[in-house]
Amino acid sequence: MSKYPIYLDYNATTPCDPQVLETMLPFFSQHFGNASSKAHAHGWHAEDAVSQAREQVASLIGADQKEIIFTSGATESVNLAIQGLAQQQTIRGKHIITVATEHKAVLDVCAHLQGQGYEITYLPVDAFGMISLALLEDSIRKDTILIAAMYANNETGVIHPVADIGRIAQKHSIPFICDATQAVGKIPVDVYADGIDMMAFSAHKMYGPKGVGALFIKKRNPLLDISPLVFGGGHERKLRSGTLNVPGIVGMGKAAELCNSMMASEAKRMGELRDYFWQEIGSIQGVKWNGQKSHSLPHVANICFNMDGGDKLIKMLSKYMSVSSGSACSSAAVEPSHVLKAMGLSDAKAHSSIRFSLGRFTTLQEISTAIEELKKALLRLS
Ligand SMILES: Cc1ncc(COP(=O)(O)O)c(C=O)c1O
Repeated sequence: MSKYPIYLDYNATTPCDPQVLETMLPFFSQHFGNASSKAHAHGWHAEDAVSQAREQVASLIGADQKEIIFTSGATESVNLAIQGLAQQQTIRGKHIITVATEHKAVLDVCAHLQGQGYEITYLPVDAFGMISLALLEDSIRKDTILIAAMYANNETGVIHPVADIGRIAQKHSIPFICDATQAVGKIPVDVYADGIDMMAFSAHKMYGPKGVGALFIKKRNPLLDISPLVFGGGHERKLRSGTLNVPGIVGMGKAAELCNSMMASEAKRMGELRDYFWQEIGSIQGVKWNGQKSHSLPHVANICFNMDGGDKLIKMLSKYMSVSSGSACSSAAVEPSHVLKAMGLSDAKAHSSIRFSLGRFTTLQEISTAIEELKKALLRLS
């Protein structure tokens, strides 16, 4: 028997892996030192642990440990990358290219900059959630200062042609900032092979703790110049001041190490579970896959149930499983997902879409139960 509710919302957040938690615990108590205390063993111990975590995180993405800045999460990393770079580039220009289906962490920063006189080009996507590379290249102007495009979409799992975007950015000498929050730790990510200049990601999406993330900043010649957003003691190469969250950083390091060692087998296992789920659910009349299954994260299925009153289905399911709907609450109103809308879905189709995201602790038994409950709910609503 599966325990209700079954957790199928791993894209929202993941539980801490027990091995991660075990690694973190001593850093709350006996190894509590400040990583910036240079004069004593407590500080050295903390600094060593942070260095090790930096290596572990860098190794997951093919980077050098000097290229990792620890932050409070992907939202902060994205803010530091985009705003920090934009502030340094005002002489070169004020034009930014991004994609309509980005996470709000990127879209809201762009909107904020727009209010300060920057011009933003939002690339559209097709029905599968994919951008046109030709349109990206056509959108580049003399005053374009950065391209911000995500690695994999958080709602649909659609994976973007990141290496192609990187190649275009490099050809035009424009920094490429990638929000890889959903991809890192799930599929192979290599910042150099992908031509990424800055990349944001988060520990809590890869079985690490909440409240810690990283920004990769490529060592370039000349160095990418970015302004800090937070000033203080000059931590993290003067880019992110504030006492380091040592337990969190240690946890992120361990989480990165585990993802590195389990990635291939876990991606295969989850792909098989998802295929089984889709085989059972996809054959129901009117049900449609949102996005492109062949170009998506192996653990994500965003499915349109094509019905009026999709909220009833979500409500009915909530007793049995934790999933995410194709709607988002903003200012107390339930808005259809901007991602699904950008892919051409009507409000009703977006409202009756559900994201199922599997993870490390999802079992075959849970998927079988979820299929059963989903079929029962659909029958009741038909
Ligand atoms: C694609 C993407 N970017 C950014 C974020 C924000 O991450 P954090 O919660 O670490 O700030 C998320 C979290 O949902 C995400 O899915």
